[in-house]
Amino acid sequence: PSRGPLSGRHIIVTSGPTHEPIDPVRYIANRSSGQQGTAIAAELRKLGARVSFVTGPAEVPPPEGVEVIAVTTAREMRDAVEAALPADAAVMAAAVADWRVSNASAQKIKKDGSGQFPVLEFAENPDILAWISKLAKDRPHLVVGFAAETDDVLHHAQQKRQRKGCDWIVANDVSPSTGIMGGHENAVILITAEGTESWPRLEKTEVARRLAERIANKMNNPAQT
Ligand code: C5P
Repeated sequence: PSRGPLSGRHIIVTSGPTHEPIDPVRYIANRSSGQQGTAIAAELRKLGARVSFVTGPAEVPPPEGVEVIAVTTAREMRDAVEAALPADAAVMAAAVADWRVSNASAQKIKKDGSGQFPVLEFAENPDILAWISKLAKDRPHLVVGFAAETDDVLHHAQQKRQRKGCDWIVANDVSPSTGIMGGHENAVILITAEGTESWPRLEKTEVARRLAERIANKMNNPAQT
C-alpha cells in the first residue's frame, strides 16, 4: 500500500497527443511530447495516489508505478477515461485533436498521378475535459484542465475555465518564441475559483511537483485553494 498525502486516492491523468487516422499509414496529430503529463502522473504517484495514466502516442515513456492505458484517438481516450471512473481527481494534460477525419480511408490512399488530390473532411471530437467536468454522476471532486495559448493567455484561459466547467486551469504561453512546446521548461498561470497565480519559469518536473502538492492540499482540505 502506498503512503503519502494522496494514498487511497484515485487520479486520472491524460497525456500526450492523439493521432487521428487519414488512412492506415497517415494521421493528423497535435504537437505534444507528453512530458508535462508524464511528470504530473509521476509526482501524483510519489504522493501515494493510484494513477490511471491515459496516454496517446507520446515521445517520453510513461512513469513507473502507474496504470498505463495506451490509446491512439480522441474517442479512444474518452472511452478509456470513462472506463477508469470513478476517480477523486482528473488532470487533463493531453493535447487532444479537436477534429478527426470523417472520411478516413480503410486502404492506403494512392498517389495516382491523376492530378486529383484527396479531400479530407472533418468531424468534431469529444471534448474530454468539458465532458468530465459536466458529468452529473461520477464527476471527480477536482478537475484540472490545461490551456495552451499563443496570445492573451490569461483572458483566454479564464474563459476556457468557465466554458469547460473545470475547477482549475493551468495556462501557458506556447508561442514558438517561448520554446515551451517540446522543451523542458514551462511558465504557467494557475487559475482557480479564488484567483490567478503566475508561477516562474520552471522545469516541467518542478511544475508537476508543485501542482501535485497543490492537488494533495486541495483534496485533504477542500476549503483551501
Ligand atoms: O480547447 P483546448 O484544446 O484549448 O483545451 C485544452 C484542455 O482541454 C486541455 O486540458 C485538454 O487536455 C482538454 N481537451 C480535452 N478534449 C478535447 C480537447 C481538449 O480533454 N477534445
